[in-house]
Amino acid sequence: MDITTPSSHKAGGLPIDVVIMAAGKGTRMKSKLPKVLHRLAGRALLQHVVDTAAELSARRVVVITGHGAAQVETAVRAFSAASMGLDFVRQEPQLGTGHAVQQAVPALPDDGVVVVLSGDVPLTQADTLRQLLAACDGRQPVLLTLDMPDPTGYGRIVRQGDTVQAIVEHKDASEAQRQIKEIYSGIMAVPARLLKPWLARLDNNNAQAEYYLTDVVKFAVADGVPVVAVKTQDAVQVAGVNSPVQLAELERAYQLRLAHTLMNQGVRLADPARLDVRGTLSCDQDVDIDINCVFEGQVTLCEGVKIGAHCVIANAHIGAGAVIHPYTHIDGGAQPVQVGAGALIGPFARLRPGAVLGKEVHIGNFVEVKNATLKDGAKANHLAYVGDATLGERVNYGAGSITANYDGANKHHTEIGADVHIGSNCVLIAPVTIGEGGTVGGGSVITKNTAPGALTVARAKQVSLSNWQRPVKKK
Ligand code: UD1
Ligand code: MG
Repeated sequence: MDITTPSSHKAGGLPIDVVIMAAGKGTRMKSKLPKVLHRLAGRALLQHVVDTAAELSARRVVVITGHGAAQVETAVRAFSAASMGLDFVRQEPQLGTGHAVQQAVPALPDDGVVVVLSGDVPLTQADTLRQLLAACDGRQPVLLTLDMPDPTGYGRIVRQGDTVQAIVEHKDASEAQRQIKEIYSGIMAVPARLLKPWLARLDNNNAQAEYYLTDVVKFAVADGVPVVAVKTQDAVQVAGVNSPVQLAELERAYQLRLAHTLMNQGVRLADPARLDVRGTLSCDQDVDIDINCVFEGQVTLCEGVKIGAHCVIANAHIGAGAVIHPYTHIDGGAQPVQVGAGALIGPFARLRPGAVLGKEVHIGNFVEVKNATLKDGAKANHLAYVGDATLGERVNYGAGSITANYDGANKHHTEIGADVHIGSNCVLIAPVTIGEGGTVGGGSVITKNTAPGALTVARAKQVSLSNWQRPVKKK
């Protein structure tokens, strides 16, 4: 027994090699960006396909590029794990799907099963491909097919009983063949040792003068190799993106599925049609999410978290029982934001990278926090900036106060001890330390460290002139 390679790496004992066709132009997108780099749920279409190949533990992933090749290759390298057996093959000019896969032949070992995918069909699930590989069993070609109410434009599956005789492209099909509802999805699995000689036999004597990959079926039948069709009921998994409309439709289909998965885990969504997850959202028990929230990157919502309407939350960990009020923007970027248990955030709050908030911290409207730690019970409730700072336990940070962290060249730190009270409209010019338990009078500009427990007022003294006469307007 081979104990070094898990069985999931293999199809009927053979290694899996994935070919992804991504050379097409995508004219109908009407965009300068290559079609396969348009995003669905925050990931490039092609990235979805590469990630699915990774889920299959493919030995090799060969991406066929053409239009925008350099841009596509750079993008795929950036989002793929370095450990992946990734290869690029260029197809120039693009003479059809068969011609595309022909370009990959030198990169494909003879001992594997080749799974052909398209870079613009993003939502195929690894489990569906595993079914295909099981049916292939390392011996025979398998096609993923689908019954379509309106099969116009697709390749039709011509059968004799259970066995597939041919795939006939719409443009080449007879009237009788066009009545067939079963179509080829564009996805197949074929042992490389069979595929390679069939590819060598392709010609372009057809209505589109293209080299059709689908013609390999014809050669299999001629060679007496049975061709199997595995039918899926799930159109979303084989849907391609050709236009902005199709991209938006598939995005909604993806989001609705994800919303249902979350609800089945117990998450309460005010409206499953108004949720967008562009990354990974993990939720514990009793989470409530109001309408129109967007989650990006890695977001964790612990038990009992409530997210108000219209929040955008990226790369953040929200502690148990915290409430994020409407219109809050949280973006942890490379330094994920942490919100402590029982914290109250917003409405209209902004938490930026490196914001680390302890238990029961309160951040109110129009308060911005960046690269700053607020310890348990600290509060900044109105109109404030806290950047490059540490606020101790129970600090009360007044309305309109800011840490002046930037001297025009460098960033400096502000340290505020536990139980400090910062009045309204203060400027704390960093680097500076406010001693524990101290108070800073409203309107102060603090440039020097203050002692623990002291009241510090740094503003012009109030002057009142009694019986002062206002100037009188000259006639
Ligand atoms: C193909 C199938 C058709 C199937 C349909 C499913 C063939 C001949 N026909 O048709 O049976 O029902 O998919 O969607 O395969 N590409 C290249 N290089 C090329 C041509 C295409 O990389 O020279 C890529 C495209 O970018 C795309 C994929 O291959 O990602 C499929 O090409 P497309 O033109 O969409 O195939 P269809 O003609 O729709
Ligand atoms: Mg075509």
